[in-house]
Amino acid sequence: MIGRLNHVAIAVPDLEAASALYRDTLGAKVSDPVPQPDHGVTVVFVELPNTKVELLHPLGEASPIAGFLAKNASGGIHHICYEVEDILAARDKLKAEGARVLGDGEPKIGAHDKPVLFLHPKDFNGTLIELEQA
Ligand code: CO
Repeated sequence: MIGRLNHVAIAVPDLEAASALYRDTLGAKVSDPVPQPDHGVTVVFVELPNTKVELLHPLGEASPIAGFLAKNASGGIHHICYEVEDILAARDKLKAEGARVLGDGEPKIGAHDKPVLFLHPKDFNGTLIELEQA
């Protein structure tokens, strides 16, 4: 059911330092910071030949990654995103298998303007999983 790894999202306490690390030390192609107020984050996209890394930094008062950074002061992997062809079919299959879909279970428009859902980390080996209809 799942397809390509769309991205790995890493929450970072210092976006400028993290961008420099990926650009200068690791030699990757990094974007300018992209504020996404609807999602409560500023994102730097790191483009790799086969996938993307997204460096996430809190934006605004109620950022969904603020709690994560409070617990992981030096940052850490926040979620991974797999592509699916049909997000509603994927959701229904997962729910039937007993997996918990976060929120009200309805896909939201994600950071790439495509429908996304998040799956409970406790059901997936401690990893928050995002599904994106690609
Ligand atoms: Co994501």
